[in-house]
Amino acid sequence: MLELKHISYRVSTPEGELDILHDVSLTIPDEKLVVFTGPNGGGKTTLAKVIMGLIRPTAGQVIYNGQDITDLDITARARLGISYGFQQPPRFKGITVQNLLQLAAGQDRLSKERCCNYLTSVGLCANDYLDREVDVSLSGGEVKRIEIATILARGGKFMIFDEPEAGIDLWSFARLTETFEQIHARHSATMVIISHQERIIRLADEIIVVAGGQIAHRGTTEEIFPLILANTLGSCPVMTRKEATR
Ligand SMILES: Nc1ncnc2c1ncn2[C@@H]1O[C@H](COP(=O)(O)OP(=O)(O)OP(=O)(O)O)[C@@H](O)[C@H]1O
Ligand SMILES: [Mg+2]
Repeated sequence: MLELKHISYRVSTPEGELDILHDVSLTIPDEKLVVFTGPNGGGKTTLAKVIMGLIRPTAGQVIYNGQDITDLDITARARLGISYGFQQPPRFKGITVQNLLQLAAGQDRLSKERCCNYLTSVGLCANDYLDREVDVSLSGGEVKRIEIATILARGGKFMIFDEPEAGIDLWSFARLTETFEQIHARHSATMVIISHQERIIRLADEIIVVAGGQIAHRGTTEEIFPLILANTLGSCPVMTRKEATR
């Protein structure tokens, strides 16, 4: 189980102090599939980075399976089984797709068949990709899918995917959605998926709407989806104020 207790994240900008997250508290039980959604700039990626240890909250605690991990770095959290797929994944010149999958799995001799299965889960054909370098020659959608495959190969207990749909074609996206569904059905991991996609939102046990650095709403698909469709979640605060004074 993951618990976020009163998490705040404040940064200094030329204009002064800026609160990116304010007092976010949240519990994610084991084996659940939770979707973070909400308007651009709402704080979803920042919250994911706090969980992964890529940034340290300015206040609050991160508790994982009863252990306070707030001060643990990303490597220590990865050892505990937490993994994170970047919204914009990095590239690794000189490292092949097969190398990367082996590194992720922690096995020198990850069989070609296993590598192939991970790549198939994200809609890639292993024959075309295993020996390719993870460099600028790969398209945005290819790098994104390869990174998701490395998270699957790592096989962690707590996986965070930051907009896995971004830049991915419809066919590969359908394959990827099935993969998330299968992981969930096997109860093999807890998943946090940051997404704006209806197909992914519909898979969730719980939807958490992050807006303005806070949890604006949370609930089941049945409860939250009508709000999203009614477009009541991310209205412009300036316009709303203007409308209210008309
Ligand atoms: N280090 C920083 N300095 C200044 N502003 C920051 C910093 N980090 C994040 N922000 C701002 O905080 C807000 C939240 O960013 P975040 O990346 O978490 O949003 P998001 O919900 O993931 O958005 P998107 O849907 O576009 O990916 C944004 O307005 C962003 O510009
Ligand atoms: Mg983001």
